[in-house]
Amino acid sequence: MIAPDLAAREAAALMGTYRRQPVEFVSGQGPWLVDAGGRRYLDFVSGLSVTSLGHAHPAVADAVAAQVRTLVHTSNLYYTRPQVELAERLKATLGWDDGLAFFCNSGAEANEAAIKLARRHGKLRDPGKVGVVALEGGFHGRTLGALLATGSPDKHAPFEPLGTWMTHVPHDDPDALTAAVDEGTCAVWVEIVQGEGGVRPVGEEVLRAARDACDRVGALLVADEVQTGLGRLGAWYGWQTSAVEPDVVCLAKALANGLPAGAIVARGEASTAFGPGDHATTFGGGPVVCAAALAVLDVIEREGLVDRARRLGGVLTDRLEQFVGAFDLAAGVRGRGLLQALVLDRPAAADVVRHALAEGLVVNDVAPDAVRLAPALVIGEADIDDMAARLARALAAAASPARGRT
Ligand SMILES: Cc1ncc(COP(=O)(O)O)c(C=O)c1O
Repeated sequence: MIAPDLAAREAAALMGTYRRQPVEFVSGQGPWLVDAGGRRYLDFVSGLSVTSLGHAHPAVADAVAAQVRTLVHTSNLYYTRPQVELAERLKATLGWDDGLAFFCNSGAEANEAAIKLARRHGKLRDPGKVGVVALEGGFHGRTLGALLATGSPDKHAPFEPLGTWMTHVPHDDPDALTAAVDEGTCAVWVEIVQGEGGVRPVGEEVLRAARDACDRVGALLVADEVQTGLGRLGAWYGWQTSAVEPDVVCLAKALANGLPAGAIVARGEASTAFGPGDHATTFGGGPVVCAAALAVLDVIEREGLVDRARRLGGVLTDRLEQFVGAFDLAAGVRGRGLLQALVLDRPAAADVVRHALAEGLVVNDVAPDAVRLAPALVIGEADIDDMAARLARALAAAASPARGRT
């Protein structure tokens, strides 16, 4: 439920950038959210792949509280230990001994930082080496550079012109990608699974073509792991589920379990392309978010959440596949680990999401015909069964079941 006057007050006080679901959440615990009326909802969105440890995780709460009481902010004019420790830990999870990190505050900022890094790296070789090749359907954020990298013309249109240095190729055409990369290319941008693009895995042959093309012209392969990183796909990083290693990863979302944190990590020559003054942020890498992120990494390691995501991803696929054939509406399952989508045979995802909410289940219509499921990595098999029971009722309400198997 939502307090009666809240939507009207919001409309009078906030810009209309969001289409909200009709619910006001006031608290959360593990994979559960609680609304203003005290009703519990099983959260299979995790704040858009963010709260991977679930809500109100005590380790994160304690780390944040301790850091807030000690030191909140100094700016990046000075050394702070949590930032250095977090960079070291990220390098270790990537297996990049020669990696170097830069911290920012969001996914879009991570992509902006990576765009600038790729340009610096390119321009150090050739002043004209500033072009970027990205995939149609990719999503990289809403700031101007990240927006241009985002492969959705409808998101560009209201703000054009955005520039001519970005080329998009289909997400499933390795030859088109190879042909688009030339000596003027400084980077190729990929997601391992396109999250906002409908939970669409990018094929191994496209990733291979991207790596080969980058090697051919001395460009950087940038993996936007904002959504796929930090265990969500059942590996520390999405690229580790493929045979291709990028030069740069972009991170955000789950990094601090809901506090605004972003990062890029680059390896090899790319890692030293920035010098003093080339890039900066007031808040990025602040002690509080870094303390939170260190707690997140501790919990992921201590509780084996990467393996758990892989194992439970299999259970999730299994339960979702049971809907295919049981409901006319359910046409297939896409994704990897704990980032999956139930694909529908028609654009009814918004309807399913609405009925799911009525059933006390939070999922999201990532595309008109796809319902995204991105639960916390701490869920158990019983939570997946609970989700499946609620989703079955939502599917039944959104369209009549074919044979009623589920
Ligand atoms: C892959 C990817 N990159 C970048 C972003 C942008 O992140 P933010 O909303 O934190 O700017 C998102 C957000 O959904 C994303 O999924």
